[in-house]
Amino acid sequence: MADQSTSQPRKKLYIETVGCQMNVLDSELVVARLREQGYELTTEIDQADTILYNTCSVRQHAEDKIYSALGRIKHIKRRRPEVSIGVLGCMAQKDQEQILKRAPHVDVVVGPGQLARVPQLLARAREVGSPQLAVSLDRDAGSRATITASFEGYDADREPAMRPSPFQAFVRVMMGCDKFCTYCIVPSVRGPEQSRPPAAILGEARLLVDQGVKEITLLGQTVNSYKYREPDGRITRLSDLLSRIAALPGIERIKFITSFPNDMTDDLLQAVRDLPLASRYIHVPAQSGCDAVLRRMKRMYTVSFYEDMLARMRETVPGVAVSSDFIVGFCGETEESFERTVRLVERARFKNSFIFKYSPRRGTKADELFPDDVAEEVKKRRNNDLLAVQTAISLQDNREFIGREVTVLVEGRSRSTTRREGWDGVDQLTGRTSCDRIVVFEGQQRLVGRSIQVRVEDASAVTLFGEVPTTDRIEAAV
Ligand code: 5AD
Ligand code: SF4
Repeated sequence: MADQSTSQPRKKLYIETVGCQMNVLDSELVVARLREQGYELTTEIDQADTILYNTCSVRQHAEDKIYSALGRIKHIKRRRPEVSIGVLGCMAQKDQEQILKRAPHVDVVVGPGQLARVPQLLARAREVGSPQLAVSLDRDAGSRATITASFEGYDADREPAMRPSPFQAFVRVMMGCDKFCTYCIVPSVRGPEQSRPPAAILGEARLLVDQGVKEITLLGQTVNSYKYREPDGRITRLSDLLSRIAALPGIERIKFITSFPNDMTDDLLQAVRDLPLASRYIHVPAQSGCDAVLRRMKRMYTVSFYEDMLARMRETVPGVAVSSDFIVGFCGETEESFERTVRLVERARFKNSFIFKYSPRRGTKADELFPDDVAEEVKKRRNNDLLAVQTAISLQDNREFIGREVTVLVEGRSRSTTRREGWDGVDQLTGRTSCDRIVVFEGQQRLVGRSIQVRVEDASAVTLFGEVPTTDRIEAAV
């Protein structure tokens, strides 16, 4: 359909995204498609003709937030029945018709494998006046090939306005997950693991770099498991993708998230070591520091395997920053198993850890097999305690940077800075080091998108505070 901007007012689209970077990317692609249909973005929900929620189902809390948001916008639909409301993403795939039962004012429910159809589904719902549901097959609903085919890949359309910043972009290298960790809903809602063809990934990266993107983050649920076999038998691994993307003229930094411990191969670590543009940062969740818990989680490694992997990472890539995820209060986690996790965090010295309280998910093996037997207050306490241990380590390690100069890719205005009219002076900027540490410093807007040297003056557990050397300030002012 052609752009309708000349013939009628553009339809206004409001979109809210929760969850992981995959969802951020999915929203970008959905918005790109809808823009082609004459939509424009609005940040005012009351002005919108179409309201979309791109949802997450990894924890109950994320779902509750969406159901209450849907409750809050009931009045909009009552006042203006022509407004379309959509629930997209993982919760759509997980809850399916349940969403329409709980929120009958919803017009479209679209799983992550069906997002390319959002424009048609919105149009169809309007045309026939009844809700439209588009989800992929359940993981036990047929052969692997049929299920895989029901999760369509679509990554061609890009929408610069939806990116983290104009020069940062995500590129999906894999879809789905086959690990089936017992607590995790992702393999059910995002389908079987599929690696995208390298030509498609390279093509997309080239397009983004041509548009001025300087930092590309490759995305996959287990990104380091990436492997693509060409019909002639040639194999492309993540390390190959990194070197090919690093060769694109104009690119400044490449990252990849999230890694799985068992697939941390030497070729990948060597690529991170040898490619100056590769971020020296690897997110590789441990989830627990107790072998018995890891076994129940079906993580397929032991604590000592994980620590050997860490040692190998640090030996191969000096200065690499490693971050982790942990689930506290998983089924059967005793005080002793939790203590083991605390000790792993103390030994591992992660740059940071994302810590979550176990949230049972219907449809997962853990929910079926094990009782959720750790009390909420205990989960909360363990979460706080582990976070305190990690924060003390992050602070200590960040303070080591004081007095050093670091290379920072400048991302934009620091979030705490308020927007000023006609802003062109010196302000608080934020960026990241190659090892993914956030650096806040005073500088000019025109530094955004550039790699500069910053001298670290102070540090908190999450931020380095720096100063731009005078040469850069002068250069920035011209
Ligand atoms: N409960 C709590 N945290 C979970 N995660 C995944 N599933 C659950 C769950 N059921 C966490 C894991 C994963 C991160 C993205 O979310 O730590 O690495
Ligand atoms: Fe979930 Fe495990 Fe797959 Fe990560 S590796 S998405 S935690 S099943």
